[in-house]
Amino acid sequence: MFSEPLTIADLKKRAKWRVPKMFYDYADSGAWTESTYRANEADFAKIHLRQRVLVDMSNRSLASTMIGENVSMPVALAPTGLCGMQHADGEILAAQAAEEAGVPFTLSTMSVCSIEDVAEHTTKPFWFQLYVMKDRGFVESLIGRAKAAGCSALVLTLDLQILGQRHKDLVNGLSTPPKFTPKHVWQVGTRPFWALDMLQTKRRSFRNIVGHAPASSDLSSLAVWTAEQFDTRLSWTDVEWIRERWGGKLILKGVLDTEDAAMAAKTGADAIIVSNHGGRQLDGALSSISMLPKIVDEVGGEIEIHMDGGIRSGQDILKARALGARGTYIGRPYLYGLGAMGKKGVTRALEILRKELDVTMALCGKRDIEEIDRSIIAKVDF
Ligand SMILES: Cc1cc2nc3c(=O)[nH]c(=O)nc-3n(C[C@H](O)[C@H](O)[C@H](O)COP(=O)(O)O)c2cc1C
Repeated sequence: MFSEPLTIADLKKRAKWRVPKMFYDYADSGAWTESTYRANEADFAKIHLRQRVLVDMSNRSLASTMIGENVSMPVALAPTGLCGMQHADGEILAAQAAEEAGVPFTLSTMSVCSIEDVAEHTTKPFWFQLYVMKDRGFVESLIGRAKAAGCSALVLTLDLQILGQRHKDLVNGLSTPPKFTPKHVWQVGTRPFWALDMLQTKRRSFRNIVGHAPASSDLSSLAVWTAEQFDTRLSWTDVEWIRERWGGKLILKGVLDTEDAAMAAKTGADAIIVSNHGGRQLDGALSSISMLPKIVDEVGGEIEIHMDGGIRSGQDILKARALGARGTYIGRPYLYGLGAMGKKGVTRALEILRKELDVTMALCGKRDIEEIDRSIIAKVDF
């Protein structure tokens, strides 16, 4: 029915066919009008590359480092909530695929599989993304669990003190696990392969939270739980508090403004991620790729800079690297792979990106990802 997926867009089509609407929509959505969600992708397309010829293109290398860790290409899997609803045991499968591909996997606080579940099924350290709740005892326990699981970096998300509104989630009545209303039964019933896999796992709730955090009114609803528990007063002082408790590599995620970047660089963190949460928070914010060079110019000498948002091809990774991002993250590209084909789909997504990155780098006349800088960007002048 589907031919071999050649692009991330192919994986997206397959995921739509296999994943129940409420979870597919949860991934393929942005806040309000989705203008920032669209801009993240569209702005990459405005950047052009210089075609170079008759240079040695043999023996190419995409190997690099992110916060000092070796990566086979400068890409990590971004933290995504409810990943285990795109496919049964999704976080475990994605972490395994990432490990095999030699790139970091970041587990979200709002994951289905827990920190312990992922640690048990992987052999190398992964990264843990932290949301900060009002209950600091619970935050400390999450940090402690991430340490005990051997996580090698903490990714602290700064851009979700309150949840942006994504209309599709409200219309769909998104919940984890799905409710037993006729609409939801229909959505699940029309996706039998997804449902059969899901019946075979016991991991169907927010397992980092359930049984660990104090009960709240409706833990199945991400929106309700977030509104009740997330700390709306999170500040730069808290970053220091978290850094002290964690004591390891720290990445600050969700910086999109040069003033904030300057503050972030002073915290002693190891890297920042230029990000607008994939267009899911402040609709109307600028795209990540358009802010990247400004932030690099502001603090690039002080702190390592990563970016995410809108990467849909290896070309986008190269453009981000050229504009100063030492590392990039993908969210939806691997979620579509996971929804489409489970672990094989995540592997496929990473293979697609790797090949596109490699061929593009070669056609730009470069053999080593470490040589990539702004000189590969073409100025449009017509
Ligand atoms: C379905 C979904 C869930 C997400 N959940 C989280 C999360 O739990 N924590 C977080 O820091 N970011 C979360 N994000 C944002 C991603 O980490 C990342 O910033 C974004 O997906 C990058 O954009 P891209 O999807 O265009 O690659 C989520 C994104 C998506 C699409």
